[in-house]
Amino acid sequence: MGKLYECAEIYDLIESEQRSEFVKNDWKEFFGDIEIHTLLDVSIGSGGLTLPLRDLGIKIYGSDLSETMLERCKQKASDKGFEIELKCSDFRDLSCWDGMKFDCVASTGNSLGYVENSDIVIALEQMDALVKKGGYICIDSRNWEKIQKETQRFYFYNPFFKDGNRINLTQVWDHNSDGSITFNLLYSFEKDGKIFQREVFEEHYNPFPYELIEKQLRKMGYGPIRLRSLPCCNPEPDFEKIEWYHLIARKQ
Ligand SMILES: C[S@@+](CC[C@H](N)C(=O)[O-])C[C@H]1O[C@@H](n2cnc3c(N)ncnc32)[C@H](O)[C@@H]1O
Repeated sequence: MGKLYECAEIYDLIESEQRSEFVKNDWKEFFGDIEIHTLLDVSIGSGGLTLPLRDLGIKIYGSDLSETMLERCKQKASDKGFEIELKCSDFRDLSCWDGMKFDCVASTGNSLGYVENSDIVIALEQMDALVKKGGYICIDSRNWEKIQKETQRFYFYNPFFKDGNRINLTQVWDHNSDGSITFNLLYSFEKDGKIFQREVFEEHYNPFPYELIEKQLRKMGYGPIRLRSLPCCNPEPDFEKIEWYHLIARKQ
């Protein structure tokens, strides 16, 4: 079985001009009156959620564990005519950014759940060390409490269409006895009604409660916390019903 983040071109099949525009507008609505000039994403991956920020006048920096995803991110930025400073790093040790401070340090793409709950606290401390006074920490995550409560097993995407092919993506979520969740990602590539390629990936997550993030942010002196559903154009006031949340909190 392949590793998803070593196949950045498959991960990026979801990408399109339309999606980038949607992501940009969603960030714009999410930030509202918050002014941000520099943003570091510590799980930038191939940049699908982050690169559109450039069109909002934000200078983007990024790090990630996967060299392959970073290479793709760099190429995508270059295709759009700009350079971006990227570093290969685990978000539990962000010393590669020592000496720099940012208006906002973010972890995008539901990435914190890749590490143990106790390591999320470490990641948040590492992120905090890089935030300017009066700056922000920004995080998005699936609502793990909802997933666990409902023991949700299946997640479907609308098909993508690329080069005359239809690509189907289905996720099957296995709830393991130790509380972790394995996402099985099945991609099938179809032309003229015939499947000509299948790719399967397995991703392992450690669900965490929203409270863990909230408590740690408050402990580090962040507030108020602005919590929205992601995308925020689908407002859902009831946290229990939110599938994916996005939060930003100010360093006092
Ligand atoms: C679902 S992808 C999100 C990528 C990008 N933010 C996006 O939304 O498209 C998760 C990313 O987290 C990265 N990642 C996983 N564990 C990490 C860690 N401990 N430190 C830094 N990055 C990590 C993976 O390499 C991957 O690029």
